[in-house]
Amino acid sequence: MELHILEHRLKVASIAKESIQLFTYGLIKLAFLSSKTRCKFFSLTETPEDYTIIVDEEGFLELPASEHLSVADATWLALNVVSGGGSFSSSQPIGVTKIAKSVIAPLADQNISVFMLSTYQTDFILIRERDLPFVMHTLAAEFTILRVVNGETVAADDFGITNGFVKPKMVQRPVIHPLSSPSNMFCVTSLDPDTLPAVATLLMDVMFYSNGVKDTLVGSEDSGHIRFFSFSLIEGYISLVMDVQTQQRFPNNLLFTSASGELWKMVRIGGQPLGFDECGIVAQISEPLAASDIPAYYISTFKFDHALVPEENINGVINALQVSQAEKH
Ligand code: ARG
Repeated sequence: MELHILEHRLKVASIAKESIQLFTYGLIKLAFLSSKTRCKFFSLTETPEDYTIIVDEEGFLELPASEHLSVADATWLALNVVSGGGSFSSSQPIGVTKIAKSVIAPLADQNISVFMLSTYQTDFILIRERDLPFVMHTLAAEFTILRVVNGETVAADDFGITNGFVKPKMVQRPVIHPLSSPSNMFCVTSLDPDTLPAVATLLMDVMFYSNGVKDTLVGSEDSGHIRFFSFSLIEGYISLVMDVQTQQRFPNNLLFTSASGELWKMVRIGGQPLGFDECGIVAQISEPLAASDIPAYYISTFKFDHALVPEENINGVINALQVSQAEKH
């Protein structure tokens, strides 16, 4: 297996809901007019608390400096696991389940903080640039580590990487933060970039003007329903995570879903904002999922984390994680 260290230097930022209008000029360019910017990595996720933006340095320049933009104080690099040999075995678990044991747990064991962004196409593990030597050292035993330089994949510079750190003893990793599960059902979809113009106005509506829509579509009595929408345009690939109410606003057959068209339910992680220094949160959630072979997507936002698991697994997952939570001392 190969671990690619991508060359994008990323910023993670939060825009307050009520300030989004200050940023729409830049955000529309980043999302819909990609030929007008040098940005190659852009993601926007709306949650009840804010908009989280993950964007490369080139794209960051499109946003105005403003007190309404909070930026996490680090530059992040994206890692990506590529299974070599191109064998697309159907039994392979998808999403964070696939990388829980090989990437997420070892990084957590070495107290390296990560920030996750699953998309339709792949799962990006963001690490702080300053942690890169430790990350490479930690993962050198499991992976061939390659670095993308000017778009070319080359052998990563040797930082004196040998066989990785000695594996720590298996430790219990109880779930620390409170969990909740909104009532929404989600789908993880993609869109041919050539058809983006056809749905651009709808997407602008969904992304920037749909705060009140839930009341009419879902019924205001559904108090468990949350606002969650994620758009990403990364190296030319579009990924959209939306609830089924939002999906129904799109023309038929425009969005790709995986063949089985499964629906996903969400586990939201965090009571107080999680910050960026704490380690092991993704591991606490993804390791038990991997142990039970439950596929999962995982999206970190500025304040909280979000795991998506198949609809039929949600009760089992919540129960298992709550048992793990009870074990904390
Ligand atoms: N740093 C956490 C970890 O290593 C995940 C990110 C949590 N923080 C956040 N703002 N979403 O597991």
